[in-house]
Amino acid sequence: MVINVCVGSSCHLKGSYDVIQTLKKIIEDKNLGDKVELKASFCLGNCSNGVSMKVDNEPLDNVTPENIEQIFNEQLMPRI
Ligand code: FES
Repeated sequence: MVINVCVGSSCHLKGSYDVIQTLKKIIEDKNLGDKVELKASFCLGNCSNGVSMKVDNEPLDNVTPENIEQIFNEQLMPRI
């Protein structure tokens, strides 16, 4: 699974750095390093719904440092 997190200026202001840090920690804690590739990307063109991500090229929006863990566990984990 490839997860792209937008680090464009709008998403950066909404906490994309913290989203990435939390994802890194989850991936490490769950030992998913060989199954999940985490990447930063430039503006994904959906700034008003940021933080924006793409998961295997599917958009996933309205991510926050607060909800990323829940999103990961509920929506992404079952697909890994
Ligand atoms: S800055 Fe993230 S979608 Fe534009």
